[in-house]
Amino acid sequence: MKVLVVGSGGREHALAWRIAKSPRVEKVYCAPGNGGTRLVAENVPLAETDIAGLGDFVEREKVGLTVVGPEVPLAMGLVDEFERRGLRVFGPSKKAAEIEGSKVFAKEFMARHRIPTGRFRVADDLDQARKVLASGEFGFPVVLKADGLAAGKGVVVCPTLQKAEEAAGEMLVRKKFGTAGRRVVIEEFLCGREVSFIVITDGLRVQPLVTAMDHKAAYDGDRGPNTGGMGAISPSPLMTEKLFEEIMSTVITPAVTRLLEEGRKFKGVLYAGLMITDEGPKVLEFNGRFGDPETQPQMVRIESDLVDLLEAAVDEDILRTEVRWSAKPAGCVVVASGGYPMSYEKGKIISGLVEAGEIPGVTVFHAGTRYENGRYATSGGRVLDVCASDETLAGAMERIYDACRRVYFEAMYYRRDIGTVREERT
Ligand code: AMP
Ligand code: GLY
Repeated sequence: MKVLVVGSGGREHALAWRIAKSPRVEKVYCAPGNGGTRLVAENVPLAETDIAGLGDFVEREKVGLTVVGPEVPLAMGLVDEFERRGLRVFGPSKKAAEIEGSKVFAKEFMARHRIPTGRFRVADDLDQARKVLASGEFGFPVVLKADGLAAGKGVVVCPTLQKAEEAAGEMLVRKKFGTAGRRVVIEEFLCGREVSFIVITDGLRVQPLVTAMDHKAAYDGDRGPNTGGMGAISPSPLMTEKLFEEIMSTVITPAVTRLLEEGRKFKGVLYAGLMITDEGPKVLEFNGRFGDPETQPQMVRIESDLVDLLEAAVDEDILRTEVRWSAKPAGCVVVASGGYPMSYEKGKIISGLVEAGEIPGVTVFHAGTRYENGRYATSGGRVLDVCASDETLAGAMERIYDACRRVYFEAMYYRRDIGTVREERT
């Protein structure tokens, strides 16, 4: 079978790498891919948003399964178009993906079905937003969220009324996030520890993935601005059996069944970003896709055939496969361009990749890289995802940091404390 992976990040490299190991897969394509995906797949120069072009390619090459990485093509209806053409595709439909694509929909859905989440209000214009903020209903800090997709940047934690009014103005009046900020969610600030909970569902039943913890802050000690993720470890040190059961019964199962009842059958990856508060787990957000970088250590740990699992979800028979995971913990450290998540330069030549990959147990996934004239150069903010597994997490992290020291590009930086801190917000 041929498989197409849509996307160009470290998540997609990890997915393509694992899919290429399936004995049932003869060829993997990645569209558009990056400098690293070409090592495990054939890169196809089609944008992730070129849905018609991707559909034509899949028909022409007789691709047996398409796996969508990022949220944007899902929100655009890639899955609906592929299904209309009779093509096999892993991911939620446009209507189901709204659980990620619209924060207003997601919050109202949770409120309707008593899925635990922070208290909130929706504002359509600055006047409304100001009224809610001035009422002091949520106190400070308060959280403002642009309704639509904003590449992970549409959430602002505002310490004061003035900052909150400024952020509301940026979103609603100055259109900082374009149409994504036409409406905003104003939400109470939740304290606790953050946990990502990720499952694959066939629309009715679920297979949880091994737990993982993301490190979102840019700098050591969880300081600095929020990023898409600067590292991840699996399993999550914050997960207990009791918490796992509680999240399944209060969040995941109701979300999957209520989406189905509302005519939004959700097939694909359902990812709940949660805050574990004193009152129990509360949903910060849902995503309708694999996490990035959580997927990278998860793909290092999966031992059974990923393609079997994805196909079982597509066929709405997810429990037919047994999913096996390595007991060994795994980690991932993101090597980023200096300046990320704000502005940064691209086109820096990367060296030391072969030397890094020679450390036993280490796999280097590429994120923002491209391959040109026999060399790798940076092409994004998050550049490399250095991963490893070992008997202990400390052992895995040691291998990872040994590998990080072997790679070099101008102005690179990475967090030195992945796997050692426990994320907590107070
Ligand atoms: P989201 O995209 O909604 O997950 O938000 C991105 C990040 O903002 C989360 O991972 C949290 O670190 C933070 N965040 C979002 N909502 C809240 C909240 N209600 N209280 C505290 N932090 C939040
Ligand atoms: N690492 C966070 C995300 O994938 O949304």
